[in-house]
Amino acid sequence: MEHALPQLRPPERLLCGPGPTNVDPAVLEAMTKPMLGHLDPDLHEILLDVVAMLRHVYRMPDGLVLPLHCTGTAGMEAGIVNLLEPGDTVIVAQCGYFGRRIAEIARRHGVLVVPVDADWGECVSNDALIDALDRHPRARMVAVVHAETSTGVEHPLAELGAALRDRDTLLMADCVTSLAGVPLEVGAWGVDFAYSCTQKCLAAPPGMSPLAVSERALERLASRRIPVPFSFDLLLLEKYWIERPVTYHHTAPVLSIYALHEALRGVLSEGLEERWARHAEAAAHLRAAVESRGLAVLADPEHRLAPLTAVRVPDGVDGKAVQGRMLREHGIEIGGGLGPDAPAMWRIGLMGRNASAETADRVLAALDAALVQEAAPALA
Ligand SMILES: Cc1ncc(COP(=O)(O)O)c(C=O)c1O
Repeated sequence: MEHALPQLRPPERLLCGPGPTNVDPAVLEAMTKPMLGHLDPDLHEILLDVVAMLRHVYRMPDGLVLPLHCTGTAGMEAGIVNLLEPGDTVIVAQCGYFGRRIAEIARRHGVLVVPVDADWGECVSNDALIDALDRHPRARMVAVVHAETSTGVEHPLAELGAALRDRDTLLMADCVTSLAGVPLEVGAWGVDFAYSCTQKCLAAPPGMSPLAVSERALERLASRRIPVPFSFDLLLLEKYWIERPVTYHHTAPVLSIYALHEALRGVLSEGLEERWARHAEAAAHLRAAVESRGLAVLADPEHRLAPLTAVRVPDGVDGKAVQGRMLREHGIEIGGGLGPDAPAMWRIGLMGRNASAETADRVLAALDAALVQEAAPALA
């Protein structure tokens, strides 16, 4: 029987889609370190180190910071189920796939959603969000995607935080593709609930969702009428991650925590601002090269997101076929449009260790070759 068992042989890939990105070798190495039990006091020291580093990376000096034991979507869901209750109202900015996902999760939780829409590639204006809030003054929360990975649009989050400062409305921000890739100051900007993931600009494997929660949001949590679903209960999670002695909540994913520890160490050793600048430079290089080929970037020039550039597929070109060729013939993964109504696009991610001009050039060379192979007469 054992002769028939297949070996695990995943191919090498350059991961330049919307995420995951390639894992930093030091992060992979960290995952081979000795396994500890989730109730081992030595692990509990490591948890506190992770939280301390995460505070720096989120720039969140107060409130609660910890990583949730599941992916970015669960971080989104944790924000909804902790800070909203059935019957509450939330204003959601929708200019792509992930804004719509926030709205969908909120509706499933019995929350009334007031969507504020913009087209693919555009950003929902802060004025439109404040206007919606004026029309729905009892809304408990405004939710936006800081870095909309489905379109490559960055929301002006600092300005939104400033506009909401004197209002009794919480601000939730999806920072899945922005954490450690673009400027983000959760504390100073007045974000009440930020969630992210590990597989994008942190360059660790997928599986955890770093969270940052403001004092104000924690007060809101303390005054809830109905309890939070157990797995997402931030106050129970705090008892494991931060309070000592710990109280068991779940069996923590120890090797993923080592990975996150090493990833955060990598970010802080490089320097957060240096890392933001590296992502910005790589993106500028990519966009200039894309536009010099006569291709169009989807996002409006005022709101372009560094870690993810969405490029419109030109008329007459089979975008999926080009993407498939890049994967099969060059070992390079890029993304396509996400969701049934997305316009035809290629999504190129330069995140974590892949945020460099060299990586951008490798992707562009493969794209050029695939376009020639697919006989795109307008561009060949
Ligand atoms: C902006 C954004 N939000 C949420 C998610 C969901 O994260 P995950 O796939 O880790 O659940 C993603 C995933 O790509 C994303 O890009």
